Amino acid sequence: MNEPDLAEALEHYRDLAPRYDHRTRFIDAIRQRTIDALKLAPGETVLDAGCGTGWCIPRLASAVGPTGRVLAFDPSPEMLAIANSRTAAAPIELFRATGEEVTLTHPAHAILFSYTHDLLHSRAGIENLFRQVHPGARVAATGTKLYARWLAPANWYLRASHRGYITNFEGFEAPWTVLAEYLDDFHVETGPFTQHYVATGRVRAQAAK
Ligand SMILES: C[S@@+](CC[C@H](N)C(=O)[O-])C[C@H]1O[C@@H](n2cnc3c(N)ncnc32)[C@H](O)[C@@H]1O
Repeated sequence: MNEPDLAEALEHYRDLAPRYDHRTRFIDAIRQRTIDALKLAPGETVLDAGCGTGWCIPRLASAVGPTGRVLAFDPSPEMLAIANSRTAAAPIELFRATGEEVTLTHPAHAILFSYTHDLLHSRAGIENLFRQVHPGARVAATGTKLYARWLAPANWYLRASHRGYITNFEGFEAPWTVLAEYLDDFHVETGPFTQHYVATGRVRAQAAK
């Protein structure tokens, strides 16, 4: 498997950060749908993995409320600075780190992967995170995937428009494949005519601590 290129990602997000929320406004609805799929309850700890500018953070915070907690991390200082400026209804802890190296202060009950293709293809990242959550923690992931193979022109466009957001296109036809290996009750909602997916499951006992 090819490796994601972190240096390339950091360079891309350094320039993109001020425009990121506007550029990605078309995915707000599916991000919200994925947050809803986590079925968060008041008082829970939720992790936003690769949180970027933190669009999801206030929504996650509303779901866990003031007795809950949102943990979020991202390696891009420019993206994280925007996340840091958000106000939210629950305590927030932000970490500047990759998924491979982050150390969480509390075990999470639920994890969100929202448009984190590179991280979803890092076994080291997934394993580091899943060692630090409650066994059976709920997971929801969303992002872009290729259309069916015969929609080649649309797929050409997807690859071109996602260069920079994604540094490793391996698995772009089914980006949930690696994640699925670590989850029980895995389910993915998608189809040949959509570029989106929402995958859910629970962290398998041996993947957690
Ligand atoms: C497309 S953005 C998604 C941001 C946010 N989750 C959202 O829904 O808008 C991808 C983010 O993944 C981060 N990223 C790249 N490699 C990563 C890694 N190895 N671990 C954690 N985050 C990573 C990037 O810095 C970037 O902020």
